[in-house]
Amino acid sequence: MSTSCYSNSLPLRIVLALGSTLIATKPHVTVLSTPYLDAYCSACCGPPSQAGLKRCTRCRAVWYCDLRCQNDDWSIHKHECIAIQRWASSAPSSDVAVPGDAIRCLARILWKRQQEGLGSDWAREINAMQSHRSSIPPSAFESHTHMAHSVVRYMGITSPAELSPFGLNSAGDLVDLISRFTTNTFTLTTYSLTSIGVCICPSIALTNHSCEPNAVIVFPRTAGVPQAQEPLMHLVAIKDIGPNEQIVTAYIDVTLPRELRQKALKETYNFACNCTLCTKRDAVDPRAAMRCPKSCGGICPVPTEEDTLTQCTKCKAVVTTVDTVLDALRIGQEALDKAESLQAKDSTKAKHIVSNMIPILISANLTPSCHPLLAMTRLHQELLIADLSTSLTQQLLDDTIRAAARYSAGLTSILPKGHPVRGVALAELGKLLAVDEPSPHDDAGTPQGQARFPPSGPVRLKLGYETLVKALDELVIGFGTDNGGGLIGKEVRDVIVRLEKELGVWTQGVKNVLEDTKAAPK
Ligand SMILES: *[C@@H]1O[C@H](CO)[C@@H](O)[C@H](O)[C@H]1NC(C)=O
Ligand SMILES: *[C@@H]1O[C@H](CO)[C@@H](O)[C@H](O)[C@H]1NC(C)=O
Ligand SMILES: [Zn+2]
Ligand SMILES: [Zn+2]
Ligand SMILES: [Zn+2]
Ligand SMILES: [Zn+2]
Repeated sequence: MSTSCYSNSLPLRIVLALGSTLIATKPHVTVLSTPYLDAYCSACCGPPSQAGLKRCTRCRAVWYCDLRCQNDDWSIHKHECIAIQRWASSAPSSDVAVPGDAIRCLARILWKRQQEGLGSDWAREINAMQSHRSSIPPSAFESHTHMAHSVVRYMGITSPAELSPFGLNSAGDLVDLISRFTTNTFTLTTYSLTSIGVCICPSIALTNHSCEPNAVIVFPRTAGVPQAQEPLMHLVAIKDIGPNEQIVTAYIDVTLPRELRQKALKETYNFACNCTLCTKRDAVDPRAAMRCPKSCGGICPVPTEEDTLTQCTKCKAVVTTVDTVLDALRIGQEALDKAESLQAKDSTKAKHIVSNMIPILISANLTPSCHPLLAMTRLHQELLIADLSTSLTQQLLDDTIRAAARYSAGLTSILPKGHPVRGVALAELGKLLAVDEPSPHDDAGTPQGQARFPPSGPVRLKLGYETLVKALDELVIGFGTDNGGGLIGKEVRDVIVRLEKELGVWTQGVKNVLEDTKAAPK
């Protein structure tokens, strides 16, 4: 099923050019997280069309685009459907009526392995999915055993003998499968990087980790791909990869500073990362940086409990507000954890925490790329965008644009050009700038040089246009050049065309662009 397409027709020195799709393959198993079951199709994982999604009338828990998607999924869902109904009938409350995605994913692996046959290629690939990602710490054993119990209960297995049709000789085999599952699962995302579930893909799981990856995993949903082949998972080069270079992806969020990356890798994958970013000690990491106390334009590493002496790398000014910064970092992290845990349950409270905390972090002089300010800004943007869909006011729209601009600025100093996270953030900013203003303000009286952000009227549209053009430039790398940046690339292109018309640049602008191109020596 997997289709490897390593290119061998490129120039000799660069084996793989940035933007090239290295692998495009359908995962062996995909599962939506519980909150997304009614929002995406459980077969192709796509968003609903105009017609909406249709619910499985038996379990009433999973949804499909149409009859075709439902039929495609039925061979596995027929087992799942019964299991979900059994689970719901014994659930203590309605919010746990469906088991979590990990349990549903493991059960799907077992049903599918049984259906394909224990000796099939499919089963062989799953079995070969070894813990090359190093071994699991003994501390994880307990949680894996707990999960094994849930899987067994969900699948209605009542004795060890009933495990053998699934290729398991003992409960220990199941715990072993769970260990391998934990280190080999990928996040399933939408075409614009929202995490909506988990998936298993043995071929892509072979890539090693780096916090400075040269490849990324995306689901671009390219036009023309038959629905039955979706979700199509792409491994895309975001840097030129030389003949002797390994292809590496990031297993974790690389916008986090070193200590938090190391912690996440240790907890889930049980290894200490030795990548260039983790070992480089000379330069200041923008993920843990603050502005120069004398505002010279330089940056300083943030102080830590162990190392309180810090100075600007440019003018050498010493940071004297160490306690304030340490406090801001600590309460900022606490507030972030709290707000993230509240995001789904009580978004008003989450927004309150975030909007109170951000000014504190900014006044402590943290750069927009510094953790936890960057993560806080991302959350703020998400919460504001959710609000925009219910009440579009000028104030809310402008607040959202400011959050999006700060988030993009932060990412720009951390991630390389073409990283999909960066491209999507820019696209989001550009799209927000292109939204019709409910009550545009009048900038006419504002003195030059003090123009407020975001601007209003045509200046705003122009900024939106330029941001989207930049975004598209990045999206066609991160989501694959062959795909034209996938569905998000197409969406951005459509807005660009609309703005070109609105700005009247069709006739006048094209001429200007030609002039510019002639003038620019490139
Ligand atoms: C991953 O790294 C190990 C050594 O750390 C190496 O032996 C293996 O070939 C690498 N795998 C890939 C797919 O590059
Ligand atoms: C990391 O790399 C350095 C030098 O390249 C090496 O000395 C060290 O043993 C490595 N550490 C691990 C955990 O692999
Ligand atoms: Zn579908
Ligand atoms: Zn069902
Ligand atoms: Zn690293
Ligand atoms: Zn300075």
